[in-house]
Amino acid sequence: MAGRIPREFIDQLLSRIDVVDVINGRVPLKKAGREYQACCPFHNEKTPSFTVSPAKQFFHCFGCGMHGSAITFLMEYEHLEYVEAIEALARTLGVEVPREHAGRGEPRKKTDASLYGLMEAVAQHYRTQLGQAANAMAYIRQRGLSPEVVQQYGIGYAADEWERLIPLFGRDYGQQKLLACGLQIENDSGRIYDRFRDRLMFPIRDRRGRVIGFGGRVLGEGSPKYLNSPETEIFHKGTELYGLYEARNNTRKLERFLVVEGYMDVVALAQYGITYAVATMGTATTSDHISQLFKYGVNQVVFCFDGDRAGEEAAWKALKNLLPAVNDEREIRFQFLPTGEDPDSLVRKLDKAGYEAELKKALPFSRFFIRGIKEGLGLKAEATLHLIEDSARFAAEASALLDQMPESLLKKSLLQEIQRLGQVTTAAPVQDTYSSGHFERPWTRTYGRRYVEKSQGAPGRPGDHEVKKTPVRYAMTLLLHSPELAGSIPNPEKLLEWEMPGLILLYKLVEIIEENPHIHAAGLLERFRGTEYENSLLKLMNWQPKEADAQMLQQEFQDCFRQIKRQARRKALEDLLYKEQTQGLNKQEKHDLLSLLGDIHDTAE
Ligand code: CTP
Ligand code: MN
Repeated sequence: MAGRIPREFIDQLLSRIDVVDVINGRVPLKKAGREYQACCPFHNEKTPSFTVSPAKQFFHCFGCGMHGSAITFLMEYEHLEYVEAIEALARTLGVEVPREHAGRGEPRKKTDASLYGLMEAVAQHYRTQLGQAANAMAYIRQRGLSPEVVQQYGIGYAADEWERLIPLFGRDYGQQKLLACGLQIENDSGRIYDRFRDRLMFPIRDRRGRVIGFGGRVLGEGSPKYLNSPETEIFHKGTELYGLYEARNNTRKLERFLVVEGYMDVVALAQYGITYAVATMGTATTSDHISQLFKYGVNQVVFCFDGDRAGEEAAWKALKNLLPAVNDEREIRFQFLPTGEDPDSLVRKLDKAGYEAELKKALPFSRFFIRGIKEGLGLKAEATLHLIEDSARFAAEASALLDQMPESLLKKSLLQEIQRLGQVTTAAPVQDTYSSGHFERPWTRTYGRRYVEKSQGAPGRPGDHEVKKTPVRYAMTLLLHSPELAGSIPNPEKLLEWEMPGLILLYKLVEIIEENPHIHAAGLLERFRGTEYENSLLKLMNWQPKEADAQMLQQEFQDCFRQIKRQARRKALEDLLYKEQTQGLNKQEKHDLLSLLGDIHDTAE
């Protein structure tokens, strides 16, 4: 694993590239005043509401709310990950992305890059073999796979031979590598032979498209039905999702994932136009799988399970692993299949539209949550709780699960529902996040990395929470729009002495601007990507300063500071007066109180 990309490099990169060029190369822009416009590439529209600001180096769609820097644009438009987007931008400038040294502790073990080369070469070999194997082609036809989808998923065939790979790849890669990749097996008597023989081969790719493993299916009956690559240096079954790379690659606007069990399911679904399916390859859905899924800003996920007891148990396991990832933006559902069907068979019967209609009907997270707890207690899903013992067990189980969920409106509603059903008060410590007057709480928490905040969603969603314009927040908005204003604060360190919500963030902004006088809004925001401040800053960015004129902005900014100072002093004064009445003041505090009283008097209007 490479080290971190140095912060300065990202700052420099963002100051050298122009977001207008980056976007214009992909979505043609038209000049409109000081900004540029286009029809939004992230949602369907006929009149342009997608604007790009060269001054802020920021794009924003007034229709769907998508916004961000050049990095965000590439991540969303090209389905890239953060580092990949930076690499792509660096390439346009012809520069290498530097890496910091891995840092303290053990030097990290370097993955042997040639393993990827070997896997790719072998996948290529299997693909070529497929066309020449009549039995394999017959099986493909029997399973109803189209040539397009076979090609898309790189499906191949491993010949019915024990020692096929060594003559082909031994010279270039060496036997040790073939063993390390799990392509060959050494038995107890030291004999080495090919793992996959006479099987249909599904290459498993990582999110960057590199082949890291294989699943091999017998042609027809036979045991084991599927043979998979073992865990190797580059393949970890509990982390990887089959078809994730293909889903991202073949779906222009990835909005949803469908998580199924098998290779054939993913491939058949894709053949019918459901290109967003991924498979857990027969293992349970782990929390690593879940973090993979939510890495891409996709907020709708349907988990598909068999309708039997085993399916329900697997689904419940998945739900438990999902709890930390549940928030109000995400729509998580569970699909239970009719007996005897799997997604492969069902999509062939229902077709794309029919299958997608089924997905819409899938059980919402909240319903399965309640139902699952009841069933876990041996109660019917629709049962009402008559016994106090049942209520107590129900509430206890529910609180234990709720505790693992981050604060959200959904969590709050679930708690209410549980209290209603259980008719007992649970002790789950759910903070009243959205009604508190707290500054940070309601809008600093973010779990997705998307720069989206739905501005026209249903009222009451946390994203829509009306944020009160305080002087501190307005000062930050002004700074984001015109970073140069930071220069007009005489003693920024003072901000840290005052006790008021948000001042630390304001100070951080000022500090970054002082170090990078030419930084623009997008660069500033980039510094906070993935932090607890990211969402707040994006919200503040969406406010428009009242004034456009530079001098007036300066005025407004100064005003903010005067107000902040006044508020801070008033608060300090109140605290001291309270203390005086309750505990009495020491000498220093008395002195402070007197000077504050004088100040307040001076600054009173
Ligand atoms: N699986 C496995 N080893 C097996 C059986 C299954 O690894 N011996 C995994 C495979 O990833 C497989 C998934 O579990 O795709 C689901 O298995 P199953 O439902 O039996 O197979 P299908 O995907 O339905 O495959 P097919 O339609 O080819 O029978
Ligand atoms: Mn099947």
